[in-house]
Amino acid sequence: MRKILHFQELDSTNSYLKMHYAQLASGSVVQADIQTAGRGRYDRTWVSHSGGLYFSVLLKTDVSLYVANLTQLMALCVCQTLEKYHIPACLKWPNDVLVQHKKICGILSEGVLEKNRLKAVIIGVGINVAQEGLATVGQPAVSLKECGVLVNKETLLSEVLDLFEPRVQSVCEKGFSLLRDEYKARFEALGKTVSVKDGEKTICGIAQDVSTDGTLLVRTDKELKEIYIGDVSHE
Ligand code: BTN
Repeated sequence: MRKILHFQELDSTNSYLKMHYAQLASGSVVQADIQTAGRGRYDRTWVSHSGGLYFSVLLKTDVSLYVANLTQLMALCVCQTLEKYHIPACLKWPNDVLVQHKKICGILSEGVLEKNRLKAVIIGVGINVAQEGLATVGQPAVSLKECGVLVNKETLLSEVLDLFEPRVQSVCEKGFSLLRDEYKARFEALGKTVSVKDGEKTICGIAQDVSTDGTLLVRTDKELKEIYIGDVSHE
């Protein structure tokens, strides 16, 4: 039986799991209707008003090798769930889900360390479900409702977890190669000119491939560059 802790309001579902992970079983899921301090990648705020689906999954593991790939698995599962509703969702490397260039889902994964050792991984997911007139937060956003799909948040959560949970163990053991084909089929910038921003650095080139490790391979005018982290944009 899946254990979902449901709160009307939390500061952040990721922060909740960071605080309480020791008392919770691996696989526990925390959901909040509202987050007062939702967090995004690159220290951004994740605006979390009612209408969105905000949840985090706790995975107790001491193996850091495939953490990034678990995040990519979650993005793929969200994308596949949206496809069931005939929403034309795409992946933006490494783990955003977009519809017509607008963000519908963001994922923030965080490791929990004790004495410098990995104890757990928290995968936090924000999906725009029933919000309307989403403000532009760094980039344009869209909700399922704005795509013409009305769905109950709990149903959507179950559908995402039904796809995610059975694949976690195999990704922990074998990594990205298991999802690579499915991931690449949904990665819309593949073959296009992209710029990848990581802090002050920006790399421009053609998004040539996603490697068997899940890294992005960009052909610049000088070399084939392997990218481990960054914010990808393309025309
Ligand atoms: C991003 O910047 O795209 C990642 C956004 C992740 C937001 C989710 S909402 C549930 C979980 N709790 C948080 O504070 N953040 C993540």
